[in-house]
Amino acid sequence: MRQSYVGSSFGWDPRSKKKELFHTDSRFILVRQTEAPRTLVAYTMFRFDHEETMEDGIMDPVVYCYEIQISQDTRRSGLGTVLMGDLEAIARKWKMKKVMLTVFRSQS
Ligand SMILES: CC(C)(COP(=O)(O)OP(=O)(O)OC[C@H]1O[C@@H](n2cnc3c(N)ncnc32)[C@H](O)[C@@H]1OP(=O)(O)O)[C@@H](O)C(=O)NCCC(=O)NCCS
Repeated sequence: MRQSYVGSSFGWDPRSKKKELFHTDSRFILVRQTEAPRTLVAYTMFRFDHEETMEDGIMDPVVYCYEIQISQDTRRSGLGTVLMGDLEAIARKWKMKKVMLTVFRSQS
C-alpha cells in the first residue's frame, strides 16, 4: 500500500492512513486462503457515505471504496473483479446510488 501512495499525489502518511482504515465507519471484506494458516490475500475497505455525484449539489448515498488490495502473487486471477462485484451487490442491497472510488494515476 505504501508503494502506491508514495508515487501518488496523496503522498504517504501512515498515521492518517491508519486512522482512516480503523475509523468506526470503515467496513472490510477480507479474503483468506482456505488452508491453514489462512493467510490474508486480499481486502477491500469501504464506507457507506454521501457524495455529490451530480452538479446540482444533491448528495447521493454511495458505497465508497477506500482501498482494494490484492497480494502480489494473487493478482490477475479475478479476485479484484470479485471484490468490486461484492461492493456492487452491497450497494444494491442497501439501496445506495453507486459505488465510487479514487484511482491513482501513478502506480509503481
Ligand atoms: C488493481 C488490483 C486491485 C486488481 O486486482 P486483480 O485481482 O489483479 O484484478 P483481476 O484479476 O480481477 O483483473 C480484472 C481486469 O483488470 C485489469 N487489470 C488488472 N490489473 C491490471 C494491471 N496491472 N494493468 C492493467 N490492467 C489490469 C485487466 O483488464 C484485468 O482483466 P484480464 O486479467 O482479463 O486482462 C490489484 O492489482 C491490486 O491490488 N493492485 C495493487 C493495489 C492497487 O493498485 N489498488 C487500487 C488502488 S486502491
